Amino acid sequence: MKILVTGGTGFIGSHTVVELINAGCEPIIVDNLSNSNIGVLDGIEKICGVRPKFYEIDCRDKDALDKLMEENKGIDSIIHFAASKAVGESVENPLLYYRNNLVSLINLLELMKKHEIKNIVFSSSCTVYGQPEILPVTENAPIQTALSPYGNTKQICEEIITDTVSADGNISAILLRYFNPIGAHESAEIGELPIGVPQNLIPYVTQTAAGIRECLSVFGDDYNTPDGSCIRDYINVTDLAKAHVVAVKRLSEKLNKKPVEIFNIGTGKGLSVLEIIDVFQKVTGVKLNYKIVGRRAGDIEQVWADPTWANTELGWKAEKSVEETLLSAWRWQEKLGKK
Ligand code: UFG
Repeated sequence: MKILVTGGTGFIGSHTVVELINAGCEPIIVDNLSNSNIGVLDGIEKICGVRPKFYEIDCRDKDALDKLMEENKGIDSIIHFAASKAVGESVENPLLYYRNNLVSLINLLELMKKHEIKNIVFSSSCTVYGQPEILPVTENAPIQTALSPYGNTKQICEEIITDTVSADGNISAILLRYFNPIGAHESAEIGELPIGVPQNLIPYVTQTAAGIRECLSVFGDDYNTPDGSCIRDYINVTDLAKAHVVAVKRLSEKLNKKPVEIFNIGTGKGLSVLEIIDVFQKVTGVKLNYKIVGRRAGDIEQVWADPTWANTELGWKAEKSVEETLLSAWRWQEKLGKK
């Protein structure tokens, strides 16, 4: 089964390509390499023994995508990861985010009609829930006004897909709302490759442990949580990748109950920043230099998933412990060294 994976050399994309190959699918990667590098293909090949087809294409380039689909007839589904994802950057440069994230999706949906591609799995985010009133958060929780242009693009993309599916009648979609993806492949052949100073917690933790950063700043210990630091649902990237395989199979085998289905992809457990630091130190034996600083603007206090719907209806469940996940992130960092 041919699956077009946009953003397929990125963090979540590359892990999904591995799981697709393991499941006997034929992924075709599209990536503009703006936030990843071609060496990721070597990592995938080492893990799977197969080098996936790769096209260096920016999804804003509709003609290039059109040509690719002409060349690769019979694509069953698209998994659309390719998007800009830095919250802070999106506040500074909103048009870049609206252009990248919306135009890419519109191009793909228009081309799906033309090339009769029936299924799309979309990378959405728990950011659409904002600070939920009820925790754990289910898929039925209200969508809240986005706190950043990035978050807004996720909401708008969900709406674009829903409207297109309802007008089209032939296309089906699954929207996966990710919680916080972390970790690396257990082989340490692929992982997260943040460019510059990491904005996310785990790469900052591993870089600090490796001596690349002097000290981790914990953004706030005065939240209304048991230890005062923010709580998130940290999901292993391989577990997350497997959710995509299940989703494309569900669409391909027409097991979906509605033309657009939405699933929370999380573990169901919330961990605080201080708990993450504690577990990291325990499993790696590395002492982490950290200090408490003020809150980061725009941070949600606490959010974790109710994954029951994904567990029962999609038939997917997070399997890996946070201990092995943090260890995998550390193994990957050790492999990268001081880069
Ligand atoms: N944190 C620190 N220090 C750091 C970095 C992060 O204390 O150096 C804290 C944050 O304040 C937050 C937690 O660690 O409490 C997690 O922060 P991340 O930046 O790793 O993740 P976020 O939950 O803020 O954001 C992530 C994605 C966004 C997405 C959002 C919700 O990065 O793209 O989840 O889906 F929008």
